[in-house]
Amino acid sequence: MTTVLIPGGAGFIGSHTVRALQTSGFESIILDNLSNGHKSSIPENSLFIEGDIQNRALLDEIFTQHKIDAVIHFAAFIEAGESVVNPLAFYSNNTGGTLCLLEAMTEHGIRPIVFSSTAAVYGQQETVATLSEDLPKKPINPYGESKWAVECMLRDTAATGALDAIALRYFNAAGSDPEGKTGELHDPETHLIPLVLQAASGKRSSIKVFGTDYGTPDGTCIRDYIHVCDLASAHVKALEHLLALGSTKGFYDAFNLGTGNGFSVRAVIESAKRVTGTDFAVVEEGRRAGDPAVLVADSSKARKHLGWEPLYPSLDDMVAHAWNFLKDR
Ligand SMILES: NC(=O)c1ccc[n+]([C@@H]2O[C@H](COP(=O)([O-])OP(=O)(O)OC[C@H]3O[C@@H](n4cnc5c(N)ncnc54)[C@H](O)[C@@H]3O)[C@@H](O)[C@H]2O)c1
Repeated sequence: MTTVLIPGGAGFIGSHTVRALQTSGFESIILDNLSNGHKSSIPENSLFIEGDIQNRALLDEIFTQHKIDAVIHFAAFIEAGESVVNPLAFYSNNTGGTLCLLEAMTEHGIRPIVFSSTAAVYGQQETVATLSEDLPKKPINPYGESKWAVECMLRDTAATGALDAIALRYFNAAGSDPEGKTGELHDPETHLIPLVLQAASGKRSSIKVFGTDYGTPDGTCIRDYIHVCDLASAHVKALEHLLALGSTKGFYDAFNLGTGNGFSVRAVIESAKRVTGTDFAVVEEGRRAGDPAVLVADSSKARKHLGWEPLYPSLDDMVAHAWNFLKDR
């Protein structure tokens, strides 16, 4: 059986991917320091090691004691706003931590890695059309820079033949396992759908809309929401792509993951009201610095080369699945 090390596998996207890997017949070993992850998110029958990707001795121990065939790497700090306040923590954990992981992988001869990158590598582009992978990379915060730096490390190391790597640039992860086994539990929460659902459940008195004067049809920002189970299935496809390379050495590529449909902040709020059958207060505020008006993915490359297709492109499905998980918490 193929065994995959999953740094960050106790987090939101990682824990869904562990389940998708199990369904596809892979064995997972989860490495997570629980800085933001949850033991309760980890499937019962998977091996969990509590530890840090920056702990080189631990990585050596794991790679020596277990037959690891590949790595799917989610472990990172994720809040872009926090990265502006504390950039060194993000460069240390996201870039330095990955450097430590890649050094250990190459020394132990483990080649395939799928990496969680982000739409934040694109920053603010001039165009409002969908974003394709070859656009210039212009991150506007240390979070995006810390991820782009990792993509450069992967590209350059793959060029030597020492790694085979795929970077997956997610747009806005959303939703939850439809069976409600795991879901989004960020603390503090900054993502729009769970925040809106907190307003729907009364946990929050209102939802704030930052900016109502953008050049979009309803004046609010537009984002591309991608169901977390569709992200999980893309990781399985990317891993299978790398494992099928055979004797080819030094593969590197990056793929956007989104549905290609943009939804405005107002559309998300309306969806939440519809799905939950509740009404709640909406407070309009000024624009936040660094929020591009529109971020929508062109994911045709992932569809074509990985054979990936999102199963849950409907916004109402994403909101309903997130609600199933969050409503009783
Ligand atoms: N959520 C999104 O919308 C989104 C969008 C684009 C990219 N991403 C990327 O996807 C990945 C997963 O995001 P998520 O939303 O699941 O976040 P998350 O915080 O739920 O998961 C990250 C996990 O990594 C763990 N971790 C962090 N630093 C670690 C370290 N040094 N050693 C071991 N474990 C560590 C945390 O405890 C957590 O379980 C991240 O790399 C993030 O940058 C997320």
